Amino acid sequence: MASAHSNKNEKTTELLVEEIRARLDWIGVDFRDDKAKDGTEEGEVKEKRVRLLDYGCGGGMISRALAPYITQAVGMDVSPHMVHEYNTWSGSIIPQMSAFVGNLLDPADPSPTAFKAEEFWGFDLAVVGLGFHQINETVSGATRLAERLRTGGVLLILDFVVDETTGGDGDGHQHDLGFWKKYGHGSGGGAATKRRKKRGFGELEIKEIFENAGVGKDFGFEVIAKGAVFETAGHSMTADVFMARGTRIYGL
Ligand SMILES: C[S@@+](CC[C@H](N)C(=O)[O-])C[C@H]1O[C@@H](n2cnc3c(N)ncnc32)[C@H](O)[C@@H]1O
Repeated sequence: MASAHSNKNEKTTELLVEEIRARLDWIGVDFRDDKAKDGTEEGEVKEKRVRLLDYGCGGGMISRALAPYITQAVGMDVSPHMVHEYNTWSGSIIPQMSAFVGNLLDPADPSPTAFKAEEFWGFDLAVVGLGFHQINETVSGATRLAERLRTGGVLLILDFVVDETTGGDGDGHQHDLGFWKKYGHGSGGGAATKRRKKRGFGELEIKEIFENAGVGKDFGFEVIAKGAVFETAGHSMTADVFMARGTRIYGL
């Protein structure tokens, strides 16, 4: 992860990576090593394609967590700096892993030319790791991402838990809205600069977003970390982190 990250942040990243890997069955994608475990011939395993869209990829925590179980990852981020960081390590893990600067969620450009090619469609899994609260239009944002999935593909969102009645987190206080932006996780423009009032979601709210975006099938929600510490340059916050998943019903 980013060299600017503190030890505490690195520990949180490692914890989240572990929690993601502990829930591969729950995520519900036919991951790369599943067949190997069932004793399928090695040749067939190699043929299998599992394609990940890591949206708002940042330095690539999600891609790193899932790298052993996929055959391709496409990272996207509005921040050229984060895309550069992702691309400095990604190719060494699996060859087909690279990130691109872009924004699929800009209402003014719903069909960006840069992402019209086939390689940017039909993903098995699209993940937004800790960045979905930065998106202002959450239903249309989730819809744009769902459109990039194949039928039966999975949208997965990791974000912060907030109390749906107060807008605060589990400890009853509101997160600092500027944390990621201020410390280099949110540079860029367009949709990224418009902020929601709450920095996170409750289960009912995120479920409704999945349903309205056409990815409500087999919806699941789990809190995967309690009191996780995020710290950079002396600024610290704790948060509970959830993971929500849903399957695309209609599509390609
Ligand atoms: C909190 S960081 C998370 C990075 C990474 N997913 C992780 O888990 O470490 C959120 C990222 O989302 C990016 N981002 C915010 N709005 C975006 C948008 N509309 N399109 C693409 N990326 C966006 C930011 O630049 C930032 O890198």
